[in-house]
Amino acid sequence: MTTLGGSAVTDPGEILAQQETSQNPYAAYRAVRDAGPAIWSDVIGSWLVGGYNEVKDVLMRSSTFSSSGIKGLNVLRLPDAVRRRTPLIETIGLTPALVFSDPPIHTKHRRLVNRPLVPRAIASRKDWLESLCNETIDAMAAKDLPDVVNDLALPLSLRIVVELFGGVAEDMPLYLELSQAQRQFFAAYHPSADVADATEAVEGDFYEYVRAYLALKREQPDDSLLSALVRPDGDGTTIDDKEIFVICHVFLTAAYETTAAAIGSMFYALLTHEEELARVLDDAALVRPAFEELVRWESPIQKLIRIAQEDTQIGGQPIAAGDPVTVYLSAANRDPRVFDDPDRFDIGREGHDALAFGRGIHFCVGAGLARLEGSTATRLLLERFPNLRIADGWTPLWTRYPQSRMLDSLPVTLAS
Ligand code: HEM
Repeated sequence: MTTLGGSAVTDPGEILAQQETSQNPYAAYRAVRDAGPAIWSDVIGSWLVGGYNEVKDVLMRSSTFSSSGIKGLNVLRLPDAVRRRTPLIETIGLTPALVFSDPPIHTKHRRLVNRPLVPRAIASRKDWLESLCNETIDAMAAKDLPDVVNDLALPLSLRIVVELFGGVAEDMPLYLELSQAQRQFFAAYHPSADVADATEAVEGDFYEYVRAYLALKREQPDDSLLSALVRPDGDGTTIDDKEIFVICHVFLTAAYETTAAAIGSMFYALLTHEEELARVLDDAALVRPAFEELVRWESPIQKLIRIAQEDTQIGGQPIAAGDPVTVYLSAANRDPRVFDDPDRFDIGREGHDALAFGRGIHFCVGAGLARLEGSTATRLLLERFPNLRIADGWTPLWTRYPQSRMLDSLPVTLAS
């Protein structure tokens, strides 16, 4: 039994599952942390883990806590007739790939996707990234009611992912459609047959798109992700187009809205904390630590799921083989046993070791790019518009998806 807002709560999952909680989940996260190293939730059907040390422990023990098979749980809930007519959804949901896989599959996929994201490759993309930021800021500045989330963070992040794949700006609508369809299907507990059919249609378009690009990249290799995925591994092994297609899916989900969420929240944090904003305006070198603090304070990925592979313990709490375990990164990142005054947004925080990019073998492969992207967008927008302010009358609405923390909009005025 734990308390929340003065009331006794036996299952913090009951509060976490309520939509309103997504507007301010931090009291519920505190309740999860206070309840012990791991607490079973009947409502969520999982162990809940919110302490920093315990979350880190689960992420580090990847052979005990598996990532495989988690994406497709809702595919298994579809009626057989629907499953038979949606073969691409079936493939995406049930093929272990990258973040939804364990070694040795994970090791193979990770090696391939890492190619365009190694520090040298990221450094060589600095000018490209600056020019995409400037182009997107120009377009945003031309709007009557500019919005940091919808006119900067989302389009910039999408454009970067599309070009990283090896595509061009004209391909963006397809990626956008795919990303929305994915959300509707894979983020839903019980997607309807109609949603499954609509998702399958978009998947078909994306599959054809990926195959066409793969043929091109085999002929004309370059430094893109799709090119990296068709280049044989050191021992000469290659992976087939279907497996690449599934990797592309996982990659898009991992890279697009996460970074957009971070950029939107970054401006929200700065524009609601005048002192911190003044420090960043005074010294652009503080943009990097500010971004690091932001992903701790409003972690874009709130939670991750693992499945216990054997009987084990988390902080002394017995966990049975087969049990799902939900780790709350955002609760861990505000654990007062590790971070002083954890609810405070403080860009001068030292000894930062937040878990916003995960930990262990699945540690975010795009963290370097995300950091560069977030800090470049912040620096350039503030350089151009140092008098940026939140538009009068706006109140935050955090998009209601339990896994991520992202503002719906952030309308601003560009000059005083
Ligand atoms: C602020 C932005 C971002 C945040 C907060 C973030 C966070 C994370 C987290 C927490 C994980 C670990 C997932 C797990 O353990 O199950 C992860 C994995 C991953 N991220 Fe990111 N990410 C961001 C941006 C990006 C970008 C820009 C890319 C690609 C360009 C990317 C690609 C990936 C991939 C491919 C994985 C899976 C890695 C693996 O399984 O080995 N992420 N990310």
